[in-house]
Amino acid sequence: MAETTNLVGKIVTGLPEALVSFLRQAGEVAASQGQHVYLVGGAVRDLLLGETHLDIDLVVEGDAVALARELKPDADAWLTIHSRFGTAKLKAGEWSIDFATARSETYARPGALPKVQPGTIQDDLFRRDFTINAMAVSLDPSRFGELIDPHGGMDDLARKHIRTLHEKSFIDDATRIWRAIRYEQRLDFRIESVTLRLLQRDIPMLVTISSDRVRHELEFVLKEKYPEKGLKRAGELGVLQAVHPSLKGDGWLAARFARARQIGLTGDSLARIYLALLAYPLAVAEAEQLIAYLRLPGTLARILRDLADLREKRKELEHPELANSEVFFLLYSHVLPALLAFKLATGSKMVRQYIDLYLDKLRYIRPALNGDDLRAMGIAPGPRLKDLLHRLHVARLDGVVTSRQDEVEMVRRLVPLQT
Ligand code: CTP
Repeated sequence: MAETTNLVGKIVTGLPEALVSFLRQAGEVAASQGQHVYLVGGAVRDLLLGETHLDIDLVVEGDAVALARELKPDADAWLTIHSRFGTAKLKAGEWSIDFATARSETYARPGALPKVQPGTIQDDLFRRDFTINAMAVSLDPSRFGELIDPHGGMDDLARKHIRTLHEKSFIDDATRIWRAIRYEQRLDFRIESVTLRLLQRDIPMLVTISSDRVRHELEFVLKEKYPEKGLKRAGELGVLQAVHPSLKGDGWLAARFARARQIGLTGDSLARIYLALLAYPLAVAEAEQLIAYLRLPGTLARILRDLADLREKRKELEHPELANSEVFFLLYSHVLPALLAFKLATGSKMVRQYIDLYLDKLRYIRPALNGDDLRAMGIAPGPRLKDLLHRLHVARLDGVVTSRQDEVEMVRRLVPLQT
């Protein structure tokens, strides 16, 4: 009989106590229902690697929803059930648990969503992406912690290999090409040589992925600790070029990403700046192609458009003697993340100084007089009033007027000339 590996020690030391008791409870309740429940996927991989993984996936041979309903989590835990898909999600503090019914999958055509049927844990592991993600741990009370590893996941962890389970894996689901790169770079593994050949063979399959799924994969890469590593590898393999031929994961990008982290950006703001920097080499028309291809949401599209526009204006902005008002009107219509990305991207010290000047000072400067004040001075609403406000703004920015009184005098000087 083959030797069994038990991970109970790793579970107890690797996961929070409350989560461990919850997993034990899940195993007991499942057994009382005549079902089997398993911990699967990334959590098993990371337990074996000694990493904490708090997004837990549980697979039930039987009915996942029936199990989730019976569990009694803390009062502050939140259970969502998707009866149609036979899945449930439990959120409790810093951890979350997904329940799914064990299933087998078949793909009608590349990129299509799979046809799903109930199955065993073996079927469920066989439908997965890589051997290191295709392991399970039994939560049955009689064999709690027992590792199920039909595809040699442990060996591949030891060899530091990313390996698919079969040769049609990337054809079934080309997002796995991105996933292979992400795991390889995050874990400091290598895509195993046969898998690498399959990946290269199946690069043309990337066109079968929907825009939304490509965007998600890119977002996942950008949420990694060092996304430049994955983008470099994606560039070398021609995967990045399938998103847009002008994208590059080169040293220029790596230096900018490192700088973005150094200035203290984190979370979503950092991911937005990463995307903007990635798109920086694109000309205006190319940025539009990328926005359309990835179906970027409005805020991201705006950042990319503004950045492409700033890039077009870079020669004007390199002029060493711009007046404050010129700096202001070159920059003011661009959103803040685009300005930040531009500051990180540009090689020009002059441009960086102008952006700082704008961000620290110029964007807060307004004339003391407003439209109501001008009307009170007898100026009728209309283009002339607008023009006067603009001139006051310019004069304020350039220090030509420095007080309300200066502004009143300036208006008095200008108005008789214009009537
Ligand atoms: N999976 C898969 N093919 C995909 C996506 C996911 O086989 N295209 C399987 C893998 O077994 C994976 C599990 O579903 O481990 C969970 O997917 P996900 O949450 O995306 O990944 P994790 O492994 O949890 O890894 P991480 O969150 O650390 O990236």
